[in-house]
Amino acid sequence: MFFEPKKGHDLPHNPIAACVSPRPIGWISTLSKSGIGNLAPFSYFNLVHNHPPTVMFACNGLKADGTAKDSWTNAEETGEFVYNVAAWKLREHINLTSTSFDAEVDELAEYGLTPRPSKIVKPVGVAESPIQFECKTTQIIHLESNSKENPSTIVFGQVVGVHIDDECLVDGRVDYDKVMHISRLGYLDYAVIGERFFMPSTYVKREQK
Ligand SMILES: Cc1cc2nc3c(=O)[nH]c(=O)nc-3n(C[C@H](O)[C@H](O)[C@H](O)COP(=O)(O)O)c2cc1C
Repeated sequence: MFFEPKKGHDLPHNPIAACVSPRPIGWISTLSKSGIGNLAPFSYFNLVHNHPPTVMFACNGLKADGTAKDSWTNAEETGEFVYNVAAWKLREHINLTSTSFDAEVDELAEYGLTPRPSKIVKPVGVAESPIQFECKTTQIIHLESNSKENPSTIVFGQVVGVHIDDECLVDGRVDYDKVMHISRLGYLDYAVIGERFFMPSTYVKREQK
């Protein structure tokens, strides 16, 4: 089949996200200007650069009350956020923290998660999550959008601190079987890392390290 998104598709559900799968999930913790914590998952998330390490997440659409998502507001206003890895053992919590609460609710406390104090930034990480990146917001881009109700704001952040649980390091490498990253597919489908393979790099030798 072929379709032009602006003209719609004849399928029962939009296939776009399923066509770009899997997508890593950034479980993003932030702090509001007034000091209230916030936690939400974003599957329009990725590592986009290594030197310096830089991540991005996209806030698409608005909160149920028509205001900007808290993660975007907080990352913009305070200039900081924390990426927590989305691990299999936390899948239910990850899903629950996507609830559109108002800004006064700290999802971390609401769902009994443990704060892990950060070393460089103010927002805490989720202690139950085996990996955290402390990030400083570097850029905010507002994408062109079809409607005012559906804006898309991309937040970029430079990684300034990295926490990896020691038990997830085996022979000096992050062990996927210990972390058990989950990712988002299309629709309401998710995946966990299964079969893997190794291929030597054909372009830059140092990238293999
Ligand atoms: C697995 C998962 C991935 C999500 N990915 C995104 C995303 O990439 N962008 C987005 O705007 N919302 C995404 N959502 C919805 C947000 O988590 C939800 O809107 C949340 O309430 C935003 O919280 P905030 O207002 O505290 O920032 C996702 C939800 C789930 C369960």
